[in-house]
This record gives sequence, structure tokens and C-alpha cells, in this order.
Amino acid sequence: MHVGYGIVAVVLVLLPPSATPAGIADCDEGVGNTYVANSTFEANLNVLAAALSPNVSVAPAGFAVATVGADPDKVFAMALCRGDVNASACSACVAAAFVDGKKDCPGNSGVAMYEDACVARFSRYRFMDFLSPDQWQVSQMIWYPEQASASVDVPAVGWFNAAVTKILAAMVDHAVTSTTGNSTTKKYFVTGEEEFDPNIYGFAQCVPDLTPAQCNDCLKDLLFYAKQAYLGKSLSWVRVNSVWCRLMYSVQPFYRGRAMLQVSAPPPTAEAPVLSPEPGSGKKISTAGIAAGVASSVVVLLILSVFAFVRFRRRTKVTDAVHPLKKITRAQCMIFDLSALQEATENFSPNNKLGEGGFGAVYKVS
Ligand SMILES: *[C@@H]1O[C@H](CO)[C@@H](O)[C@H](O)[C@H]1NC(C)=O
Ligand SMILES: *[C@@H]1O[C@H](CO)[C@@H](O)[C@H](O)[C@H]1NC(C)=O
Ligand SMILES: *[C@@H]1O[C@H](CO)[C@@H](O)[C@H](O)[C@H]1NC(C)=O
Ligand SMILES: *[C@@H]1O[C@H](CO)[C@@H](O)[C@H](O)[C@H]1NC(C)=O
Repeated sequence: MHVGYGIVAVVLVLLPPSATPAGIADCDEGVGNTYVANSTFEANLNVLAAALSPNVSVAPAGFAVATVGADPDKVFAMALCRGDVNASACSACVAAAFVDGKKDCPGNSGVAMYEDACVARFSRYRFMDFLSPDQWQVSQMIWYPEQASASVDVPAVGWFNAAVTKILAAMVDHAVTSTTGNSTTKKYFVTGEEEFDPNIYGFAQCVPDLTPAQCNDCLKDLLFYAKQAYLGKSLSWVRVNSVWCRLMYSVQPFYRGRAMLQVSAPPPTAEAPVLSPEPGSGKKISTAGIAAGVASSVVVLLILSVFAFVRFRRRTKVTDAVHPLKKITRAQCMIFDLSALQEATENFSPNNKLGEGGFGAVYKVS
């Protein structure tokens, strides 16, 4: 029996049109996720931030992990630069991410930073361990901050949506099969361009430590949530992030260099966009989930419950240091996808509203 578990919260941030979305800092809330100003932890965090930026920029895959200090003030961190950025831009992005993360989540010992050119995360808890195949389903309990812009003029929304889906699906497939990398061609990284009116640009990337199946799972999840944002609309760009993978399209070029993949436009369609099914219905969150017995199901369920409770109270901020988009109106919602848990427990009642979160209603989706 293959069972995958996932708790996915989608944060939809509506922003004005812009070629490059602003950075987002996602703060871990709850007990144990704080540090005291000028403490040993903060000193370790500063050392780590200073060491990680140059290290990730020279890493062939644009990815590095680091640990600084000793318990109880140990800091774990990772950073992944987008495959097209050069070493200096990568280093600058990671350094800025740590500055933004500390500023936007003051005193918070666990933060994920999603910048334009890089993703970084630090925490006092081990989190890279979740990459081991038998714990992959737990690693998917990562928020996917999803950012979307305002509308653009397109010939037909349904056709535009089909074109977006086509290039994003091509990005996912191509990223997953890009299993080798070097200084110029990064592992699990692809950029694409689709001739359309307007042209559509896309990119996908996974952390190089993932297996192809994990990368595929991660990106397929992001594509699923991206669709929730763009289907039926003509958004100029949508970006969906997790710590382990990223997916984006935009009608403006946003990556450096030429597209690695050319995608042809789909045939014109007069049909309304095919709305995807309710989140979770018939969708397997993680096909790479391990064969899980009842015992492990219960353990994972407990972990998930704690995680869900903690994550409930997280907040998300737009980092105004990167783009002057602060004080904008944001429409946000969170979705907890607990379909697999429902499957595991057999007594979850679907479509129940769980309550109000920090920035909107929180639903359990079957
Ligand atoms: C931390 O150190 C800085 C610079 O040394 C100082 O300005 C600040 O007041 C200190 N904060 C606390 C809470 O001790
Ligand atoms: C950065 O890389 C150097 C050289 O490989 C290594 O000695 C150092 O420990 C790394 N720093 C961190 C924080 O991992
Ligand atoms: C690296 O990329 C940045 C941004 O694209 C650019 O301004 C800079 O000149 C590049 N540096 C090198 C050494 O190529
Ligand atoms: C990097 O890998 C790509 C694809 O495998 C290859 O075409 C390219 O020549 C390689 N570049 C270097 C500098 O090795």
C-alpha cells in the first residue's frame, strides 16, 4: 500500500503587475520557534548567513546546506539559487534572504525565505533529514506561498490558461528529467519560452538532493496549486514555492539567458478552461510515499497534527526590501489538504471548515 501524506497550505498573495514578484518570508510560529536578541543562537545565525552565501554561490548545483553552533543554539540552514543566476547574484540573493528573513520574522528561529533568485531556510530544528525517502511525505508539510499578479490582456482566457498549463507541465517534466548538472546546466532546473500572445516564460527547479520521483511529486503539487490560482483568469504571472521546489510562469521574461526549452502554443480553444477537481479529490499527494503500515500511519498522523497546529498560526509577509510593494491589499487563503489523512483515519469528514487562521478561513479538503 502506498500512502502519501501531505498538509499543504496555499497562501495566495495578489500583487500588482510586476516582472518579478517580491520576496516572501514565511515565519515558523509557535512554541520553540523563537530566539532572544543578541543570544548565542542569533550569533550562530549571523555566522551561518555569512558563510552560506558564498558557499552556495560556488556550489555546482547552486545549493548548499550548513549547520553552525552546538545544541541548544545550533542553526540549520539551506539555500538554493535559481539555476540561471550567476555566482555573485546568487550570493547577494542568499545574503538578502537572510536579512529579509530576520527583519520580517524578528526573533523567529525558523524562517523560509522565497526571493526572486533564491530560496533559503533556517531553523533550530533539523529539516533536511526529511529528505530521506521514508520521510518524504513529512517533508511535504511545507507551505507553498503562492503569489499571483493582476490580469493582462489575452486573446481568450481559456486558450491562455491552456498555454500556461502547457508550458508549466513541460517545465515540470523537463526539470524532473534533468538529473545531471554542471556549472552551466543545473540539476532539476529548466527555463522555457512559449510563443503566444503574449509570450509566456516559465521555470521549474528542485533541490538537487531529491530523487527524480520526489522532484516530480513536489513540482506536480505546485502545478496543482498554481492551477487553483490561474485557471479562469489571465494573471500575468504566478509563482508557487516550497522549500524543495519552485514553479513559475510570467508573460514577461524574468530569467537570465535564453530559454532552455521552446514550447509551442496549444491550438486555439473557445472552451472555458477545464477547472481542476476539488483539491485532493482523486489526487495523490505523494506517489513516492513509502509503503506505510498502520503503526507508521498513526505516528505520522500525530506528527502531522502537531505540525498542523503549529503551522496554523504562521504568518506571511511580503519583504518590502526587494520590491516597493508593501502595504498592498492582499487576498489570502489557506488550504489544508488532508485527503491522505482522511484515507488513513477513515473518519475525517471532508469539506469541514477547521476554523479561522491568521489570514483567512482554514479548510480541511477531502
Ligand atoms: C543587542 O546588541 C545591540 C548592539 O550591540 C544593542 O544595540 C541592542 O540594544 C542589544 N539588544 C538587546 C536586547 O540586548
Ligand atoms: C563553506 O565551505 C567551506 C569550504 O568547503 C567549509 O569549510 C565551510 O564549513 C562551509 N561553511 C558552512 C557554514 O557550511
Ligand atoms: C551576474 O548577474 C547580474 C544580474 O544579472 C549582473 O548584473 C552581473 O553583471 C553578473 N556578473 C557576472 C560576473 O557575470
Ligand atoms: C553541462 O551539461 C550540459 C548538458 O549535459 C552540456 O551540454 C554542457 O556542455 C555542459 N557544460 C559544461 C561546462 O560542462
